[in-house]
Amino acid sequence: MMGYTTPHARKLYRILSKKIFLFTEMIPSKTMLYSKNKDLIIANYNENPVALQVGGADYQDLAKCTKIAKAYNYDEINLNVGCPSRPVQKGNFGACLMKQKTLVRNCLEAMIESKDINVSMKCRIGIGKELNFNFFYYFIEEVIKSGIEIIYVHARNAILNNLSPKDNRTIPPLNYEFVTNIKKEFPHIKFILNGGINSIEQAYGLSELYDGIMVGRLIKNNPFCLFNIDKLFFNVKTVNKEDDYCQKIVLEYFQYIKQKLENDSIFRLLSPLLGIFFNTPNNKKFKSKIQLNMKNYEIDKLENLFLKFIEEKKNIR
Ligand SMILES: Cc1cc2nc3c(=O)[nH]c(=O)nc-3n(C[C@H](O)[C@H](O)[C@H](O)COP(=O)(O)O)c2cc1C
Repeated sequence: MMGYTTPHARKLYRILSKKIFLFTEMIPSKTMLYSKNKDLIIANYNENPVALQVGGADYQDLAKCTKIAKAYNYDEINLNVGCPSRPVQKGNFGACLMKQKTLVRNCLEAMIESKDINVSMKCRIGIGKELNFNFFYYFIEEVIKSGIEIIYVHARNAILNNLSPKDNRTIPPLNYEFVTNIKKEFPHIKFILNGGINSIEQAYGLSELYDGIMVGRLIKNNPFCLFNIDKLFFNVKTVNKEDDYCQKIVLEYFQYIKQKLENDSIFRLLSPLLGIFFNTPNNKKFKSKIQLNMKNYEIDKLENLFLKFIEEKKNIR
């Protein structure tokens, strides 16, 4: 998720769960190939299993990006065919590519040919206001000729004119049935359901019905809801008490931050951890103290503030 699933956020998620499959932000292919900071942007700090998501429609560039994904030890490269933002449309990639299915197929084919790494795609169920299963069907039928076997579906249309990316994640109605029905048509393809999943329990329930479940905003807003996910989904033994778990995570994440301080801003490093305050009554006081200490780079003080917050939270219950 752009602006959120940075290498640091992914590090936090990996500490929170040893098992979940992670995604980078969408990185435009030109950025991946030509940015001065590309090493920092593409970095993978052993967060595997993890997919590198790329945005683009130039098959030669995308083939090069696939080689990069392999070189940086990603498990998968994913082509974004779901982003509706104006700049992305201007660059002729993202969701608008759903109208150019042969181009998508050619891009995916070039990616598959270029390196021995899983290639996948993330798309919507359609374009515009009208729901049209035939459109979705023919799009999928064409793109899987490339040889891809994994498709992530944000189960709502993208409306490309006059709707912001934010509204494009809420206004077009969700339709999980399209994903159920497309799976029936192409049973050999893995379809991963995405969109509107509000709890880990809901994700678990849906995981019985689909090949996999992808969640975005739930984790962005409240990463600590991953507590117990390894136990629930993968039957892995985990600590039982949520407070002990939070403390363990904070200590481990601060260890990581301390190693990275020389190369990155405290703000970027710490932002993923602010999700610890999600929906807690006593968070305002802590948040303002944390912001103050961020300015002064008092890392030990910051660490203690987080630990104190967990302690106080325990006492409130
Ligand atoms: C701030 C933000 C940034 C996002 N960036 C990306 C992105 O880079 N690539 C992508 O495929 N989807 C992106 N998305 C969309 C999510 O991956 C997801 O498809 C969408 O939010 C619906 O799932 P959810 O209801 O679980 O959040 C973004 C969503 C948000 C809220």
